[in-house]
Amino acid sequence: MGKIISLLNHKGGVGKTTSTINIGAGMVELGKKVLLVDLDPQANLTLSLGIPRQPITIYEAIRGEAELDPYTVKPGLDVVISTLDLSSAEMELINEAGREYILREIFDPFREDYDFILIDCPPSLGLLTLNALTTSDFVLIPLQTEFLALQGLAKIKQVIQKVRLRLNKGLDIGGVIATMYDARKVLNRDVVETIKKYFGPLVFETYIRDNVALAEAPAQRKDIFAYNRNSPGAKDYLSLAQEIISRSNKAAER
Ligand SMILES: Nc1ncnc2c1ncn2[C@@H]1O[C@H](COP(=O)(O)OP(=O)(O)OP(=O)(O)O)[C@@H](O)[C@H]1O
Ligand SMILES: [Mg+2]
Repeated sequence: MGKIISLLNHKGGVGKTTSTINIGAGMVELGKKVLLVDLDPQANLTLSLGIPRQPITIYEAIRGEAELDPYTVKPGLDVVISTLDLSSAEMELINEAGREYILREIFDPFREDYDFILIDCPPSLGLLTLNALTTSDFVLIPLQTEFLALQGLAKIKQVIQKVRLRLNKGLDIGGVIATMYDARKVLNRDVVETIKKYFGPLVFETYIRDNVALAEAPAQRKDIFAYNRNSPGAKDYLSLAQEIISRSNKAAER
């Protein structure tokens, strides 16, 4: 049975989408079958992989109008695309019974077809994000190793706690990812130390370095392995994907 993992941080621009794409592509390098889900109305993940407009997006599935038919980017890597229309979903669903469980209903059947399903959350803690957490086995929190990285984290922890209590007992924090790390910058090193004090062993050993190839790849509509597999970005995301798979295996043994 495949695991469902959400990438969450309501702070914008911390590396959620970059991490979703490249952890997924890293898992594919390691022989896994992966489904990426773009849950952000900005559709950055969809655009970054250059996926042509499809008749069915996550929005139609959430509205119950159509069944999802994921788009295959390359062998082992499928994507459920998003669209700007998704921005109205939160309002439309507000009076729906069981509104926090819509994504779970949609994605549970897909667990049979994939090893990992990765959900790229929007930078908010609204109903779409709640749905992602209700559906997930793990949540991963990307943190940019900059000033204010930890600001707002108490809120994330609180939301995760509430979801565990009321909606999804099985939800765990799978780990914290340090992103855009530059070892030459004292500030970055200091922030990582602070993150480690706060989260302890939850912080992955792999830090994602600040690497221009990771910013260039989306302009070429490619994941980092298709764009430049010798880049530091490719090395980091492969190592991180390996760590996530190991943690997931260990959790399954418990
Ligand atoms: N390790 C990195 N090195 C260099 N640039 C990076 C790295 N990670 C992400 N970026 C760039 O930083 C910007 C923000 O990254 P990304 O879009 O992944 O963040 P996000 O958290 O998904 O943002 P949003 O909250 O808007 O959805 C992008 O332009 C991306 O290409
Ligand atoms: Mg994003």
